[in-house]
Formats: sequence, structure tokens, C-alpha cells
Amino acid sequence: MKGTRLLTITLSLALLPLGVTLRADEGMWLPSLISQRFPDMQSKGFKLTPEDIYSVNQACLKDAVVLFGSGCTGELVSNDGLLFTNHHCGYSYIQRHSSVEHDYLKDGFWAMKRSEELPNKGLSVSFLDRMEDVTGVILSGYDPSTMTEDQRDSLTRANSRTLTAQVQKEGKGIRASVEALYYGNTYYLFVFRVFRDVRLVGAPPSSIGKFGGDTDNWMWPRHTGDFSIFRVYAGPDNEPAEYSEDNVPYHPRKFLRICTSGVNVGDFTFVYGCPGSTTEYITSPEVRYIAEVSDPQKIALRTQRLDIQKKYMSQDQKVRIQYSSKNASTANAWKKWQGEAKGVAKMKTVQRKQDYENRFNEWAKGTRYEGVVQKIAEAQARRQPYYLAYEYYNEAVRTLEIVQFSASVFSNLSSKSRIEDLSRSFYKDYCQSIDEEIFEAMLTSFDRNIPEEFKPAFFKEKLSEFGSVAAWRDDVYARTLFKDPDKVLALGEADTDRVKADPAYEIYSQFYNWYEQTLRPVITETTRDLRPLHREYMQGQMDFEKGKAFYPDANLTLRVAYGNVKGYSPADGITYKPVSTLKGIIEKDNPDIFDYNIPQTLRDIYAEGGHDDQPVCFLATNHTTGGNSGSPVLNAYGDLIGINFDRVWEGTMSDIVYDPDVCRNISLDVRYLLFNIKYIGHADYLFDEMEFVTR
Ligand code: ARG
Ligand code: GLU
Repeated sequence: MKGTRLLTITLSLALLPLGVTLRADEGMWLPSLISQRFPDMQSKGFKLTPEDIYSVNQACLKDAVVLFGSGCTGELVSNDGLLFTNHHCGYSYIQRHSSVEHDYLKDGFWAMKRSEELPNKGLSVSFLDRMEDVTGVILSGYDPSTMTEDQRDSLTRANSRTLTAQVQKEGKGIRASVEALYYGNTYYLFVFRVFRDVRLVGAPPSSIGKFGGDTDNWMWPRHTGDFSIFRVYAGPDNEPAEYSEDNVPYHPRKFLRICTSGVNVGDFTFVYGCPGSTTEYITSPEVRYIAEVSDPQKIALRTQRLDIQKKYMSQDQKVRIQYSSKNASTANAWKKWQGEAKGVAKMKTVQRKQDYENRFNEWAKGTRYEGVVQKIAEAQARRQPYYLAYEYYNEAVRTLEIVQFSASVFSNLSSKSRIEDLSRSFYKDYCQSIDEEIFEAMLTSFDRNIPEEFKPAFFKEKLSEFGSVAAWRDDVYARTLFKDPDKVLALGEADTDRVKADPAYEIYSQFYNWYEQTLRPVITETTRDLRPLHREYMQGQMDFEKGKAFYPDANLTLRVAYGNVKGYSPADGITYKPVSTLKGIIEKDNPDIFDYNIPQTLRDIYAEGGHDDQPVCFLATNHTTGGNSGSPVLNAYGDLIGINFDRVWEGTMSDIVYDPDVCRNISLDVRYLLFNIKYIGHADYLFDEMEFVTR
């Protein structure tokens, strides 16, 4: 008995330091504070200095990294503004240039000279000029003893506006924003230079760029060639400029060299990019809501929508193109949530957080933090039923396409040209049969899962009038004018009442009113209550665990994550190697399965021989999340070795809790991108402007 206990103690002691070192791969660090991580990075193999990552005085890696569009990352790889990002980040732009005749999504696109590069309205890239802690400025005038949360909020907003307005005067294309970090215990100013002329240079066929499709999405082994290539253009003065034929390729302060020596197990890697959102410091009831209530319900709604879309997509080529982007974006979070819910359960995160909270509460007795955890739990409990209904509003009601379209048209009745634009993009990608089936499925789920007392009166009336969702649906689609492009194009300001009476618009407005009157007040109120509590709890955790390095939750601001190339074991008896190759693509190749049907050229190249070991993707322990798509993955010397595009689904709970055993980011090996330029695009001319190194 004694012996056993001793053994357990020895074992757990032996495991402890290991656990601690491994955990250190967790974290998305602020580049300007990276010197705090420097000793750890160095001990893991990093060969550069903190100034190489972030400096305001000299060109450094941050100058080669951009926020691409509104939610991805990209990196500059030539002195002429050449940029790499993911295929899925360029997807909607590639789709917009595509038609049945020129299907760039299907066949890929390669500009053979600069004049063939395609402009993309609405696409911008933002370079970070500098970031600084402005907590003092933003909180100036704040008096916690006399001011309410609302007053604090108005004050910080006003101070932020003044500051950003002042900074924005600095020059052309400057965008400044103030972001709250650590739940508003700290504020940072981010100053960007925004370039709006960004052109498409190259994209592989989707059978490469989206190889494995949603079947392989979030999975390993992975073989997706998830890249697309753009070029940033500037005015003749190299400054940001709106699109113009006179613009010239932008010369960045810094571009990345490409390392062609590849990756080995254990190699140091870091990811420089814009992770979107994480919630690592929330309480146990909040985690429980996400993993046990919200995720499962949203998954169920999306399963229905995906099944309906897929049924029609597999029957008709036109519908497949129309719904490819919508389908991919629906499927993406759907699968992520599945991994997240499972990962949270497997990690016993709710239990672990409860234990942590108990220790915290004990420590907090008699301090300003006493009771904060309990107050969060109370506000959360009040909020939950309303928030769930709100999630149904988003995930069920607001996915009815014709209903949403009617609302956009309604708010643009005064502009013929806006109505024309809206109609063009809506009808191009609209399939009424899909929308009708989804209508029935979504509103039926709403009816079943939303408690009676939460349902809008209007909804109940319609159901009793028609007897079923299906009958109601038939009436809506029989009568709505929005299914008819000619009728929509004829609309004008005089038709306000007519649109208001339309059955599709009626659904929009009735549900919207319900959201405004029933849900929003409680959600707003509880958000207001929770904000200072979370801020306090965050500070409390930092005080409770003095000496621990806390990284701020992700909020689409630039971060650095570091780790090393590493496989993992997804389940007992299975070990995954961290590298995949072209051989694996050939093994998956299957002309009968859409997701695995590779282009004939790729088969032919492989058949010529010598490409078995062509690397395709690799795994590493970098802590990343959505928004890190397209981020450069760099080696110890800061050379580009890969492009981040995914995580493994067993590790997607890393947005809430990071498990060093299974949290892995998935990157495209940059050598597969080069392989594609050469063999698939025959666009070797692009190599002339890149810089290569071997290590
Ligand atoms: N899972 C990746 C990310 O979250 C890739 C998404 C695009 N690919 C796809 N097959 N849907 O966004
Ligand atoms: N594909 C994701 C993106 O869009 C990255 C994967 C992740 O969530 O880590 O940002």
C-alpha cells in the first residue's frame, strides 16, 4: 500500500516538469512584448533577436505580414509585393472571377504576366506600422469610485476616437484602432497602412487547393494545397492607393525569404499572424454552455443545412459552383465545434475550471476579487436562455436566403443601382429549392427547440394559421416577389409598403422585432454586467498566479506563436507522423469522389517518377486559431517554411483550453506551393522575384 503510494508520487513528480515544459507551447504573444518570451524561444531553438520580430526603428518580420481581407493573414515574399495566403482565404475572390466558361475555382488561375493579374474590389491588406500600450491615454479621466460601467465605456470609446482620429491624419491609407486586451485591463493602439489594390496572381485548381474538401478539413493526415497568390499594388509613390491602372507593385519594407531545406521533427517553428478569437480565461459555467449547449445545437442545425445543400450540389454542376463557398463556410465551423465540444469534455475542462475557481475563491477571500466568480455565474445563468434563442435566430432564421435578401433590398429602395448590384450577386448564387428545404428544416427546429415562452407571437400565429411549417413555407414562396428578379429590379422608393407586406420580408421584420424587443435587452444588459466582471476576474487570475505569463485572448491583432514540428497520437494505438507527401495524395486520389479527384496533370507528373517524397503538409505545436489562416510559418532563422491553414480537429478546443498532447496547427509545406507554381501553373517566372535559402 505504502509502496504503491510512493510509486504514484514518484511518477507524478517525474511527470510534472515535463507537463510544464510542454505546456509552454501554449500562447499567442504580442510581438512588441516578445522579448519576454525570448529566453524560452531561444532555449527551443530560435536564432534571431526580438528586434527581428518587432521593431519600430528597423525593417523586421512584422513588415512582411499582413491582415488579409477582414479575417485572414498573408505574407509578402518579394520586393514586388507578391503575397501568399491560403486558397480558402482567396476563395471568394477566385469565385467572383469564375463562371461556367472560366471556372478558376475548378481549373485554377495563373497570370502569365502582370497585366493578366485580376483586381479584387473590396479586398484590402493591412500592414502593421506600430503598436503601443495606450492604457493611460484611454483610461484618462476614469474614476472607478464614481463612474458606472457605461460611463467607463463611453469614456474609453471617446478617448479611443480622439486618439485614432489624430493618428489617422499621419498619412494616406492609415487606419488606427484601439483594442482592449485582457478584457480591458490594457488598451493597445494599432496603426496600419491599408492597401486596397490587391490582385490575384495565381491559384491552383480546387482539386489541389481544396483537396480533401470538407472530408479532410480539420484532419490529419492532410494533403491540401491550400494556397493562393496575390500581389499588392501601390501608387507610383509606393503609398496606399485605390485601384488604378497606373498603380505599381508595392515594395514592402521587408519580404520573407523562402527556405527550401524543409522541416524535420523537432524543428523550431513560429507563426506570425492574426488569430481571431479565443476565450482561455472564462469560467466553468461559460465553458459548459459552449461545449454542452451551444456547440451541439448549432452542429445539429448546420448538419441539416449541409445535407440539403449537398443533395442539390451533387445533382447539378451549376448549383455546385453557386453553393461551393456557402457550403464550405457552413461546414467549417460545423466541424470545428465538433472537435471543440469533444476536446473540452476529454480535457475535463469544466471540472478543472471548477477546481481552479475553488482555489481562486479561497485565495480571493477578503480581497477585491471576492465573489467575482459567483457573480459571473449568476449573470451567465440569466443570459443563457436568451443567448441560445439568439443563436437560433442567427443559425436558423438568418440563414433563409430570400428573407435576408428582402431585407437588403428594403434598406436600399432609394437606389436603383444598389438594387441592381444586390440582385446580380444574389441571383447568381441562388437556388430556390435549397432555400425552400432549408426554410422548412430551420423553422421546424426552431419550433421544436425554442421554449414556448421564448417564441415570437408572430411565429405561433403563422403555425396555427397554416397548420405546419411546410404549408407556411409554400405560401411564402408562392407569394414573395423576391423570387422574381424582374419584379425586384422594378422596385423603387414608392414600393415601401408593398415590400413591407411581402411574406419573406414580413418574416425578416417580425423576427427582427422579436430579437430587438425580447432578446436584445437582456443580452445587452448581461453583456454590460459581465464586462467589468470578466475584466476583474482576468486581473484576479493574473494576481492569483503572479509570475505566470498571461497572453491576452486573441482578437485579430498580430501575434506570435511558437513551438516545434511534431506529430501526435489522436487515439490509443495510433501515432501520426508530422509530415505528409505527394505519395499520400496519389493514395487518396479517386476520380469518383469529388473531394479526392486530382487533376490529370498531377497524376501524369507523379507517374513520371521522382516525386514520391514531395512534401505537402506538416504539423507543429504552434497555438493558432481562425484568422491565422494564411499566416507564415517560419523557421528558427525567420525564413518561410510553410503557410498555416488549419488545426487538427482533436485540438480545436485550444480556443478554450490548450492540450500540448493533441493541439497541432497544420501548414502547407512551402515547397509544395513551389511545386505547384512549376508543374501545375507553369508560372516559373514568379521564382525570379523570390529569394531562396537553404539551411
Ligand atoms: N478549417 C480551415 C479553417 O478554419 C480551412 C477552411 C476551408 N476549407 C474547407 N474545406 N472548408 O478555416
Ligand atoms: N482555417 C482557419 C482560418 O481560417 C485556421 C484554422 C484554425 O482555426 O486554426 O483561419
